Formats: sequence, structure tokens, C-alpha cells
Amino acid sequence: IERTLVIVKPDGYSRGLTGEVLRRIEAKGYTLAELQVISPDRERLAKHYAEHEGKPFYEPLVDFMSSGPAVFAIVEGHRCIEGFRALAGATDPTAALPGTIRGDLGRDWGLPVQQNIVHGSDSPESAEREINIWFAG
Ligand code: GTP
Ligand code: MG
Repeated sequence: IERTLVIVKPDGYSRGLTGEVLRRIEAKGYTLAELQVISPDRERLAKHYAEHEGKPFYEPLVDFMSSGPAVFAIVEGHRCIEGFRALAGATDPTAALPGTIRGDLGRDWGLPVQQNIVHGSDSPESAEREINIWFAG
């Protein structure tokens, strides 16, 4: 079965949107295989976001992601990587379509990084790489 790593980022967690995000994942028909609440450390965030190192939003992104607790979920289901990214909507929450998590629940707060509530892996290779960073065994 395909797996993806979903993160309810610190903005989503602190706004109390965890239940709403997990509800949408379950309502879509995917399975929550594992769940944990942790405050992401900068060392693992550097691995997770290695592809963005050097970009102007990289440091603000790591600062934001290490700012407080977040929820990490391993989500399972046939084509769940593509399916969750459709549920999440576009990266920019202002442009994300209504009906999506970011479009319904997110906005631009005028901050240096897009605070867009959720992360979802973008390929099977990314999913396995990211799951290995955040989940032991
Ligand atoms: P994730 O599911 O979080 O990986 O989102 P994504 O795949 O839609 O975006 P991407 O992997 O390209 O970027 C990771 C995160 O960096 C995004 O979710 C945003 O929080 C932030 N980000 C990406 N691009 C920009 C940008 O152009 N400007 C700003 N300010 N933040 C960005
Ligand atoms: Mg991404």
C-alpha cells in the first residue's frame, strides 16, 4: 500500500486544526497508520527540507517549523500521495482553492514563510525518506 508523510505544521496545531485535518484524511478514505506529536528539531528539519537549502525562505521555514509542536502522521492508501496533495491544495494558501485544507483554513499572515497548515510528501521516494527521518523503526 502507498504511504505518505503528513505533517500538521505548528500553525495548524496551535490553531487547533489537527482534528479537522485528520477528519478530512479519514473522510477521504485513507488510513492513519501512525501518529505522533513532537516539536521538530532543527537537525531533522535540515534533512527533511534539504532540497530547499539556500533558498530565501529556507531559514524562516526551519525557524517556523521548529517553533512548537506539530503532528506527524503516516497515512496509507492507494494513491494517497497524490490524493493528499489534492486535499491540501496549492502551497500558497491565498491561491489555494476553496474546498482544500489550505484554501478553506489558511491565509497569508504577511510573514517571511508561507504558513500553510500541512505538509504532504510529493513522491513515493520522498515519502519513504521523510518517514525514515521522523519515525524510528
Ligand atoms: P509541503 O507539503 O510543505 O512540502 O508544501 P509544498 O510541497 O506545497 O511546498 P514546497 O515543498 O515547495 O515548500 C515547502 C514549504 O516551504 C511550503 O509548504 C511553504 O511553507 C514554504 N515555501 C515554499 N515556497 C515558498 C515561497 O516561495 N515563499 C515562501 N515564503 N515560503 C515558501
Ligand atoms: Mg514539498
